[in-house]
Amino acid sequence: MKRTYIGELNKEIGKEVKIAGWVDVRRDHGKLIFIDLRDMSGKVQMVALPNHAEAHEMANTVRPEWVVEVTGKVNARPERMVNKDEANGTIEIEILSMNVLNEAVTPPFDVRGDGRDIGEDARLSHRWLDLRRPRLQKNIRNRSSIMTLVRTLLAAEGFTEIETPNLTNATAEGSRDFIVPSRLEPGNFYALPQSPQQYKQLLMAAGFEKYFQFARCFRDEDSRGDRQPEFTQMDLEMSFATEEDVMAVNEKVIIEVVKKLYPHKKIQEIPFPKIPYAEAMAKYGTDKPDLRKDKNDLDLLAFAWTVDFPMFEKGDDGKWTFTHNPFSTTKPESMGDLMAKKNIETIMAAQYDLVLNGNEAGGGSIRNHRPEALRKTLEIMDFSAEKIESQYGHMLRAFETGVPPHGGIAWGLDRLVMILENEPNIRETIAFAKSGEGRDLMMNAPGPVSAEQLRDLRIEIKKKK
Ligand code: AMO
Repeated sequence: MKRTYIGELNKEIGKEVKIAGWVDVRRDHGKLIFIDLRDMSGKVQMVALPNHAEAHEMANTVRPEWVVEVTGKVNARPERMVNKDEANGTIEIEILSMNVLNEAVTPPFDVRGDGRDIGEDARLSHRWLDLRRPRLQKNIRNRSSIMTLVRTLLAAEGFTEIETPNLTNATAEGSRDFIVPSRLEPGNFYALPQSPQQYKQLLMAAGFEKYFQFARCFRDEDSRGDRQPEFTQMDLEMSFATEEDVMAVNEKVIIEVVKKLYPHKKIQEIPFPKIPYAEAMAKYGTDKPDLRKDKNDLDLLAFAWTVDFPMFEKGDDGKWTFTHNPFSTTKPESMGDLMAKKNIETIMAAQYDLVLNGNEAGGGSIRNHRPEALRKTLEIMDFSAEKIESQYGHMLRAFETGVPPHGGIAWGLDRLVMILENEPNIRETIAFAKSGEGRDLMMNAPGPVSAEQLRDLRIEIKKKK
């Protein structure tokens, strides 16, 4: 007999079916044993009756989290037993036979509740069990639905999905890099990308015009509630595009995602309002203000664009540095000052952040596509000619080969899902998240490597004194 998914059972009333899944709860009423069985599509109540002796005996032995296969009859529940709040509340499976596919030791924590009272270390070190809880199942499945819908919508807009390397060189997004030693070139290192920024601009140089990908990004910074060392961006770039073009495509896609997948949520203002950076700072003291009219309304989404950012700020060393990344161009009226390297503090960047309910959900800019403008930016930051050549030479040369004006954006996908799912922490939206200390507690990473691996890489570890 073919397996029926639990979510489909209410179409099978009166029939005999085979179902399979995990024992959710077992309630022993002596003669009657009730078992809730769950699979990826839902949950159903089953009952073992003493007249099916073998099945009854088996039902007596199973425990929560055991994996079983059951043949049974789908019965309509008597009126007084109907539970209108449950998807399968009108039916019950009469167990005819039961086969145990795998037993389970008692889990270290309950996987049925929302898990909010369980310590992070326990949850993350048994993540596969933690992921069984309905809250995480929902978050991860909804994340997948968002990705599928975004792919469909962007494909319809003419975007091509292109993957870019993870073994690369430093990508200049302003955080610390994770580095990977090279065995073939001992002493040399790859860096994991902080974002696909340079590759996506090179894809514009390559003539793709509209690119996107769900990109894994790596930043060696301390974790916070809204930050992980490894995270996912929905990254896109468009040629011949203005700030308005980039914003328009993004608004269209996001509005569609909310309408289709979160129909109970309201977007406070469409088109998304634009707030100049200076105004946001003066009025709200932050560049990512929470603009919700009712901050207690969990279904209200206040999107906004923060615009008109200054291009440069003073770094800790007193030198000018970029506020976003070095590739942004200026507002047209500031280009003269950039090229003359004057009035640096008032140069405005063609840059925008997507703000949602007080979070930075995304950020992007129109780029410098002319090599001399990128060179001036780097000179303002006091980069030496050698540093410019070694770190940005390939970009400068690319921009000498007929590159259209272009710009783009990246959303923090995990962060967006976190907000849409009303979760307090980004970890709840990432299947295998890292702990606050940046550890993968399940795989026990980072961890030591063998002496042989170190020898191959010609790396020597200095013992702590
Ligand atoms: P930016 O650095 O602003 O821009 O990143 C874009 C968005 O990515 C999310 N984000 C993070 N999410 C989780 N954990 C982190 N550690 C983390 N860091 C950033 C945020 C942020 O808004 N290349 C540019 C984009 C562009 O200009 O097109 C970039 O990476 O939601």
